[in-house]
Amino acid sequence: MTTTTEFYSPGLDGVIAGETAISSVEQGNLLYRGYDIAELAEHASFEECAYLLLHGELPSRTQLDTFRAALDAERALPEPVLAALRQVPSQVDLMDALRTGLSLAAHYDPRGTAVHTSAPPPELLRAQAMRVLAQVPTLIGALVRLRAGQVPLAPREGLSHAAQLYQLILGRTPDLLAERVLNLTLILYAEHEFNASTFAARVCASTRSDLYSAVVAAVATLKGPLHGGANEQAIELINRFDSAAAARQWVLDALARKELVMGFGHRVYKSGDHRARILERYVEELGRQRGEATRVAVYHAIKNTVWEQKQLHPNLDFPCGLVYFLLELPIATYTPIFVASRVSGWCAHVIEQAGANRIIRPRSRYSGPPARPFVPIDRR
Ligand SMILES: CC(C)(COP(=O)(O)OP(=O)(O)OC[C@H]1O[C@@H](n2cnc3c(N)ncnc32)[C@H](O)[C@@H]1OP(=O)(O)O)[C@@H](O)C(=O)NCCC(=O)NCCS
Repeated sequence: MTTTTEFYSPGLDGVIAGETAISSVEQGNLLYRGYDIAELAEHASFEECAYLLLHGELPSRTQLDTFRAALDAERALPEPVLAALRQVPSQVDLMDALRTGLSLAAHYDPRGTAVHTSAPPPELLRAQAMRVLAQVPTLIGALVRLRAGQVPLAPREGLSHAAQLYQLILGRTPDLLAERVLNLTLILYAEHEFNASTFAARVCASTRSDLYSAVVAAVATLKGPLHGGANEQAIELINRFDSAAAARQWVLDALARKELVMGFGHRVYKSGDHRARILERYVEELGRQRGEATRVAVYHAIKNTVWEQKQLHPNLDFPCGLVYFLLELPIATYTPIFVASRVSGWCAHVIEQAGANRIIRPRSRYSGPPARPFVPIDRR
């Protein structure tokens, strides 16, 4: 019989809920399979990181070429998926539409989505992971263009994941700086141990449901403004002010009203999110290049005032919201772009969970009425 310990932590704060060899956060440092995120950010491409997450080791040049070619081969959407996407109402949230698109695309995977009562073959999961990783940019691009009354663009062979995403959304390839920065954000977003969406994917996978279902559960979870949705909220906030002074005053008032400032705070990083510091270096450079000095000043005013008042640091979503804006990406795509990256981490976790599975089924602390006798309906 299972015994229940009385340990309870609201929001599972500080709880070790499982084991992973995929990433770790130690002394404020994020490592993917043992490699420091700062080094990966400096030297690697997103594709190398995705390979590392999915296979456990960095690829050789040949393995990377094969990986890129496999992504190219899977990027196009089946025509019935595009036809169905045309029926999605144009006003729905892009994350909802992407969730629908991923569900639809799953129906056309020739490998199927059959469930296994014992561990599914890892090769099957990796093949499905490649397909979903390849198709997320195509889905985002198609949805953005359809709602603007435009024809979806075809994926182009030989582009990086970052450049592909950019051209499918905006219809032009990025310049060198834009591609470098977008690639960097994809690396920084790719994986983060037991965050809410990854945990949702693992809970789903732990029931021996299929990989696509786990990814859809993760997308639904990432949408929330306390998680992935924060990058869109962050730029919406920055865009409200035309001066640093106005931004500072708003933060003072908002904190006095006990409102959250989106893009700040973190469950794990209490002395700063290293990823935000890595990305922030590009805020000034992009701001100068785009002639956006006021927006950059507003960014710093919000950051400095939140620190002064609450000693809270920005998380990755705060600089990322501004960086995506400076890259001229539509705001509704920011959380979907997070998906285009994090799906690599989710799939790595689904593979790991499937390989050493025990269904995730915790207990709850009951807070309802004590046991009481049933009252028949005509005596209530
Ligand atoms: C990320 C987040 C959900 C973590 O939540 P958490 O670990 O439960 O943090 P807590 O709610 O315990 O925060 C501790 C204190 O800081 C405050 N705080 C945390 N984030 C804050 C924010 N963004 N703005 C203002 N105050 C904040 C809390 O209100 C709390 O204050 P109190 O002690 O006076 O009650 C939370 O910081 C948040 O909602 N941030 C904004 C959304 C966001 O940026 N999400 C992206 C995360 S990567």
